[in-house]
Amino acid sequence: MKITARLCLLFGWVHALKPSLPTNNAEISRRDAIKATTAISTASIFLPTTQSLALPLDAPAVSNAPPAVSISAAGKATLPKMGLGAWAWGDSLFWGYSKDEDKELEQVFRYAIENGVSFFDTAELYGIGRSESLIKDFAARMEDADRQKISVATKFAALPWRTKRGDVVNAAEASVRRLGRPIDLYQIHFPNAYANEAYWDGLADCFDKGLVKSVGVSNYGKDAVKACHSSLAKRGIPLSSNQVQMSLLYRGPLDNGLKDTCDELGVQTIAYSPLALGLLTGKYNAQNFPKGPRKKLAERLFVENGPAAERLLDSMRSIAVKRGADTPLSQVALNWCIAKNTCVIPGARNMKQVKQNLGALQWSLTKDEVAMLDEASKALPSLVPPEASPFPKKDKDTGLIMFDS
Ligand SMILES: NC(=O)c1ccc[n+]([C@@H]2O[C@H](COP(=O)([O-])OP(=O)(O)OC[C@H]3O[C@@H](n4cnc5c(N)ncnc54)[C@H](OP(=O)(O)O)[C@@H]3O)[C@@H](O)[C@H]2O)c1
Repeated sequence: MKITARLCLLFGWVHALKPSLPTNNAEISRRDAIKATTAISTASIFLPTTQSLALPLDAPAVSNAPPAVSISAAGKATLPKMGLGAWAWGDSLFWGYSKDEDKELEQVFRYAIENGVSFFDTAELYGIGRSESLIKDFAARMEDADRQKISVATKFAALPWRTKRGDVVNAAEASVRRLGRPIDLYQIHFPNAYANEAYWDGLADCFDKGLVKSVGVSNYGKDAVKACHSSLAKRGIPLSSNQVQMSLLYRGPLDNGLKDTCDELGVQTIAYSPLALGLLTGKYNAQNFPKGPRKKLAERLFVENGPAAERLLDSMRSIAVKRGADTPLSQVALNWCIAKNTCVIPGARNMKQVKQNLGALQWSLTKDEVAMLDEASKALPSLVPPEASPFPKKDKDTGLIMFDS
């Protein structure tokens, strides 16, 4: 119960303990889903590989232009260097979202797609389905050609009472209804204390039913990734990705071998909270904390670890300024994740943020700069140490370590 309560807080699960996620009335038939899947596969061949002209005219030449999300018929997804995270789109408890933001969020969505970032990460828990529904609504108002560029990753919430493979299929069906399209990448959001093996069968069932085009996990540790990879392989389905927290303030997956394990298995790492929830953008400091739940993290960073935090931000500033006086620190934070060979999925709540964040794709860090940032970031503790994480660490049925960073 304690774990559930903490998960509720973390993911904005405010209304009920037992989920009752909204669905759209229009049912999507299995045949429609498969038809749409085929259409999207075909369209993905034509996804842009360079930035469009909508970027500022004084923008430097593109060096990190995102490739299209492509997914093989066998279900292996190749993800771009950058996607956009949609947790804040619809979540009022953690992010203080209000419906007044929808107009600008739609502009953010459009700008991203028009500028080559057309991969969106959401979850059934984000805004209790609202994030998925917003993506559906925004996409519905796009021109066909732009809509076909969109790829969506969403997530199954491994809530304690969900213990059957059928729970994964039911949740995927509901997400497909809310999104109005098949799911390009379907991820187990976090481990449960039980039933994790049943979830892997559920993922495979979703793939076989044509509800999802590829599958992944999130917040999985080394042993769990290996076990899930081998379970899916028995059904002939590749594990495409593991989405984990990774940033200059959260290096766990790099330092404990998780990223290496994923690389060895051909499982792509998706780096979430790459801006450390905004703390790495330079706008927050000891005099200016974010409101809400982030305040505690800001205190830990800027008060308890003030000098080391300042050294890291100074290193970031020195790198940014070499690219131009106006280069935002967020681009340094994102390029560090890209340099670590991850698909980075920053959140963006307004036009200024999305423009700045996509700008990271226009330049890259040198090896020396990456080393300098590594040194500065290693001097700081993880803001949320793994042991304080709300995710179950072990599967109580099998003894498998599920979470380790
Ligand atoms: N799998 C998981 O368990 C999990 C967990 C967390 C996140 N995620 C995914 O990862 C995505 C990104 O992570 P996140 O949203 O947690 O954190 P993040 O990307 O580290 O930070 C995003 C926040 O930073 C601020 N920001 C963004 N760009 C900025 C800029 N250029 N300048 C100044 N401020 C900026 C905005 O908040 P303010 O304007 O309010 O400061 C924004 O909401 C999520 O949307 C979600 O898709 C997954």
